[in-house]
Amino acid sequence: MGQLDNKTALVTGASTGIGLAIARRFAAEGATVYLTGRRKPELEAAVELVGGRGIGIQGDVSQLADLDRLFAEIAERSGHLDVVVANAGVGDFGLLGEITEEGYDRAISVNLKGTVFTVQKALPLLSAGASVILLSSSAALRGVPGLGVYAATKAAIRSLARTWAAELADRGIRVNALTPGPVTTPGADELRAALPRDGQAAEPAAPTPLGRAGRPDEVAATALYLAGDQSSFTTGAELFVDGGTTQL
Ligand SMILES: NC(=O)c1ccc[n+]([C@@H]2O[C@H](COP(=O)([O-])OP(=O)(O)OC[C@H]3O[C@@H](n4cnc5c(N)ncnc54)[C@H](OP(=O)(O)O)[C@@H]3O)[C@@H](O)[C@H]2O)c1
Repeated sequence: MGQLDNKTALVTGASTGIGLAIARRFAAEGATVYLTGRRKPELEAAVELVGGRGIGIQGDVSQLADLDRLFAEIAERSGHLDVVVANAGVGDFGLLGEITEEGYDRAISVNLKGTVFTVQKALPLLSAGASVILLSSSAALRGVPGLGVYAATKAAIRSLARTWAAELADRGIRVNALTPGPVTTPGADELRAALPRDGQAAEPAAPTPLGRAGRPDEVAATALYLAGDQSSFTTGAELFVDGGTTQL
């Protein structure tokens, strides 16, 4: 028996990295999983990896028309959602003084607008007792040079988890923030490669107190906990999967 047998889940930004690991774990636990992403070949490859319970729907979370199409298709195929993971997100590097309008708009529109409208448009489909999981970041609790705008979007996401948990409690819907620290993914590797090698934004020698970066499957394990009945009395909370980065 799987922990998510007969459940239907949506994971946005699931073609690579943390989202893909969450989609794979949810499907392995018995859920039907909708995966989204903008690039078609990557999404198709991800659906292959997820196996028979994975359904890919291409789209950009920052485009409201794409979200309308996504939820219309889920409504038609499944009629409801038990779990929503608002995972799609982009990192952007910009020290104060060098922040570009383009980088600002990208981070705000994908991370913040995308999360707000993903959850808002999912509302009519959410079952009683559904679980909504919002991806924040340890960067929101730390002063990481160059990650100001990104970290601000992730701090906003943590705040939204509190507000929406309060607003949706009477429907029995739980909303929690899931906060990774450094996790090895294509997106994180790309961001790391863009960091200046010395000076203000240099990386620490050990990325976390545990002495290593995390793996996507370690984040997926906590997402599974938040998605299922094991966390039935947890809402408005923030769970950290960060190797101790924000706590020690
Ligand atoms: N990895 C870390 O160290 C870390 C740490 C803290 C928090 N996080 C957060 O965890 C989440 C996942 O990060 P990750 O490292 O796994 O990133 P990743 O490897 O870059 O994967 C991001 C995924 O989201 C998709 N995506 C990006 N923009 C999208 C959009 N506008 N609409 C739909 N899908 C979109 C990407 O596919 P397409 O490009 O094809 O759309 C990809 O599948 C993000 O919210 C990130 O901020 C990550």
